[in-house]
Amino acid sequence: MALSYRPSLEIDERHRSDLRSGIGDTRSMASGASQRQAWIIDQVPVREGDRVLELGCGHGVAASLLCDRLGDGAYLGVDRSLKMTAAASDRNRRHISEGRATFQTAQIVDADLDGIYDWVVAIHLPVLDRGDPREELVAVRPHMTPASRFCIGFQPLDGSALETAIERLDGVLELNGFKVSEVARGDPDGRPTAVVFAEPSDL
Ligand SMILES: C[S@@+](CC[C@H](N)C(=O)[O-])C[C@H]1O[C@@H](n2cnc3c(N)ncnc32)[C@H](O)[C@@H]1O
Repeated sequence: MALSYRPSLEIDERHRSDLRSGIGDTRSMASGASQRQAWIIDQVPVREGDRVLELGCGHGVAASLLCDRLGDGAYLGVDRSLKMTAAASDRNRRHISEGRATFQTAQIVDADLDGIYDWVVAIHLPVLDRGDPREELVAVRPHMTPASRFCIGFQPLDGSALETAIERLDGVLELNGFKVSEVARGDPDGRPTAVVFAEPSDL
C-alpha cells in the first residue's frame, strides 16, 4: 500500500502553544493536563503494576496521569530533547523519587529501552503522524509481547482529517509488523481525537 505523505505542521504548532502556556490548551485538570491529553490517557486501561513506555514524552503531562495509576508499576519516558526530559522530570519528581518513573534523553532508535512493556504510548509523535517510523517501530517491537499494546493518540487541528490520519497510520503500522486492534474516537474539547491501538502482528 502506498503511503500518502500529508505535510502537517498543525500538531507541532499545538505542542508549541502548550509549551508557551506551560500547560494544556484547556486547563481542565489539577495535573495541568488539557482535556485532550486527559481523554487520550483515559482510553489507555493501564493498571497497577503495569510497565509503560512513552515515546516523545514531552514535558511529562501524560506521564503524570499514567504514573498516578501505576502503583508499583514502572514508567519510562523517552524524549530527544533535554529541555523536555528536564521539564518532565521536574513535573514528576514524586513518581521518580518513589521509583516509578524514569526519563531518558535519547532518540527513540538509540534509547536504552530495557525490558518488556505492557503499554507503549505515543501522543503527537511526529514520525508517526507524518513520517516513516520504520526504524522506531523496529526499535520498540522487541520490548513488546503479543499481549502488549501500542497506543497512539492524536488530534488533528483540522478535525475533518481524522479518518484520513487513522487510515494512513493503519497502513504504516501494517507495513511494519503491527496490526490495529481498536480505535477509540472522541471529541474531548469539541475536536475530533483518536487513540489507535495496535498489537505486534509477527510475535
Ligand atoms: C509534538 S511533541 C508531543 C509531546 C507530548 N507527547 C504531548 O503530547 O504533549 C513531540 C515530542 O516528541 C519528541 N520527539 C520527536 N521525535 C522524537 C524521536 N525520534 N525520538 C525521541 N523524541 C522525539 C520531541 O522532542 C517532542 O518533545
